[in-house]
Amino acid sequence: MTRYDSVLDLIGNTPLVGIHALSPNPDVKIWAKLEGQNPGGSAKDRIAKTMVDLAEGDGVLTRGSGQIILEPSSGNTGIGLALVAKLRGYRLRVVLPENVSIERRQLLEIFGAEVVLSPGEEGSNGAIRRAEQLAAEDEELVMLFQYGNPANPLAHYLGTGPEILRDCPEIDVFCAGLGTSGTLMGVGRYLKEHKPEAKILAVEPPVGELVQGLRNLDDGFVPPIFDAAMLDRKTIVRPRESIEWTRRLLSECGVFAGISSGAAVAGAVKYAQRVDAANIVVLLPDGGWKYLSSGAWTDDIDVVEERATRINYW
Ligand SMILES: Cc1ncc(COP(=O)(O)O)c(C=O)c1O
Repeated sequence: MTRYDSVLDLIGNTPLVGIHALSPNPDVKIWAKLEGQNPGGSAKDRIAKTMVDLAEGDGVLTRGSGQIILEPSSGNTGIGLALVAKLRGYRLRVVLPENVSIERRQLLEIFGAEVVLSPGEEGSNGAIRRAEQLAAEDEELVMLFQYGNPANPLAHYLGTGPEILRDCPEIDVFCAGLGTSGTLMGVGRYLKEHKPEAKILAVEPPVGELVQGLRNLDDGFVPPIFDAAMLDRKTIVRPRESIEWTRRLLSECGVFAGISSGAAVAGAVKYAQRVDAANIVVLLPDGGWKYLSSGAWTDDIDVVEERATRINYW
């Protein structure tokens, strides 16, 4: 069926595509779930819609009430919420670190979000603190708070997980980056219930290093939705490897994806090196469009790495 009443009906049902050319072993197949195919461009469209649906169901949000949704986000959740808020008639205020890349601000603004900036050096933790202050000061603001909202993992439990098992019933490993942890928690719980032998692999950057959208839980904030029991293994991927694998995704598989996708693929390949045969599903959270100004595909990798320490591209 390719006819829909609303753009929101396009959320989910993203394709799984083989990126076996990146596997070190022909008996290890790697399948990429292309979340960049969602209408707002990332996996976060799923949680944006589910968070708003549940808040409306609980009476926390009421259409036409003049309420303003508030969210700390370095980009994708803000963009997903901006899309849903526009179609449901809410205003949206997004708190984001002042040093995010230009594409992120532009996208939020063209979707109609109001942008509040937080100190760049404080990263996403600073954006969370600023949003909490704003919410405490103004009753009109409704913070859905992806880091603590059960609707975040629920969107992946109800959508992403079943889609993965439907499209790859032979799955042995699911691999994804860890940000809010919603993807890993939701898909992890679904697979533990329906395919308990499948392993759940989380990819984190090292403490103190930035890979867009991802966090190391030792950096000072553990999302309330996080449950360590859902993970079987964690692997560390550095920013430089993330850029390298983002490039290889494009040059060897024709997949144009964001930098945290490169990180997730790097984690999947590390796992592939250690096993004789497997089917690995790796989730690519977004496309490459928002990262063009980082020079990730075009500039010298040392220059890209250095630039990323000043400007928050990922
Ligand atoms: C680009 C990108 N990759 C990965 C993630 C991590 O996904 P999750 O928040 O479900 O852990 C995010 C989340 O913010 C993201 O924006």
